Amino acid sequence: MTDLFASYDLSGLTLNNRFVMAPMTRSRAPEDIATEQIALHYTQRGTAGLIVSEGTPISREGQGYLFNPGIFSDEQIKGWKLVTDSVHSVGGKMFAQLWHVGRVSHTSIQVDGKAPVSSTTKPAQGGKAFGYTEDGEPGFVDTSIPRALTTEEVGRVVGDFAQAAVNAIDAGFDGVEIHGANGYLLEQFLNPQVNDRTDRYGAKNLDDRLRFVFEVVDAVSARIGKDKVGIRISPYGQLFDMPIYPEIDETYAALCAGMNERGIAYVHVMDQTHFFMAGESSAAQEEALRELLKECKAKLGNTALILAGDMTLERAQDLVDAGLIDLAAFGQPFIANPDLVARLKNGWPLTTPDRDTYYGGDAKGYVDYSPYEPA
Ligand SMILES: Cc1cc2nc3c(=O)[nH]c(=O)nc-3n(C[C@H](O)[C@H](O)[C@H](O)COP(=O)(O)O)c2cc1C
Repeated sequence: MTDLFASYDLSGLTLNNRFVMAPMTRSRAPEDIATEQIALHYTQRGTAGLIVSEGTPISREGQGYLFNPGIFSDEQIKGWKLVTDSVHSVGGKMFAQLWHVGRVSHTSIQVDGKAPVSSTTKPAQGGKAFGYTEDGEPGFVDTSIPRALTTEEVGRVVGDFAQAAVNAIDAGFDGVEIHGANGYLLEQFLNPQVNDRTDRYGAKNLDDRLRFVFEVVDAVSARIGKDKVGIRISPYGQLFDMPIYPEIDETYAALCAGMNERGIAYVHVMDQTHFFMAGESSAAQEEALRELLKECKAKLGNTALILAGDMTLERAQDLVDAGLIDLAAFGQPFIANPDLVARLKNGWPLTTPDRDTYYGGDAKGYVDYSPYEPA
């Protein structure tokens, strides 16, 4: 049985244990710059083996929600430095999640009110961004009709990812996680029912659909080193109008194989099979997930596999021992349990997070959850 509480070598970076804090947007950066309060929040959770930051926009163009700390200006780099210095001071390790929302944005957030960009001109039906409403107040707004990036512009966005990665390293992060999940820009290229391009990034064949993702990974790796790079994916996810397509398994098998060839640190799977198969038995859902993990893991070689979604200690142990994953990520449990790793280790009870304080607001529900105090 693998000891999940023992240290783990992630491509040369020693993690104190195999528990990962999953990326979670909390919208508590009034100026889109990380603050001391944000530093405190992450530092309280510094006993996680690895913290992945909330999605951090790589550019104004890549932003779909106000009040999220970006990684493209000097002030934002300085803000994140507060966070990483503080997390490191307690022995934590932290990657920045690099985020471009693509079409999941709104003209009120974009420079000069321009249209958001995507692989397509099709809007994300039913999608919401968090921008400025018609009366100029911050609020949820329908995502705007996007403009399709030209072929040359795709290269520019690849460059924006690479620059953001350099900025993240300057800000003291131990590495970056490229956000390829949840219906954002990378998925808008991967999904052949969204991507309707005819150029070399188009939906004609698998190589073309994967090209943007691979170019981003290559450009980021070239600038900061492949050992500092991870990617997050969400196969079978339907968030933001991502239709299910017949070639999903083939697509992600090729993606995982490509990550092995590139030798990056990890692939982080956000489980969506349970949502996709909501009508089926939990045993069938779990079996589908395991099949997906097995396929990816078989291709990955030395690249680690992380899984997030409804994780428990028992499930993590089972999946690691079965050789299906290397690290286990927890999202919501970390919100209310800053000392989650100690609680899991000692069998202490878990506090339930308050959903009303997930996004926005102040210290409440953000830095006021206490570590467990045994009687
Ligand atoms: C408040 C909140 C914010 C989230 N923000 C992000 C994000 O910025 N990037 C991302 O990839 N996933 C995000 N997620 C998804 C989580 O990383 C995680 O995959 C999901 O919550 C499932 O894990 P859990 O069941 O342990 O919570 C978010 C989830 C929550 C609850």
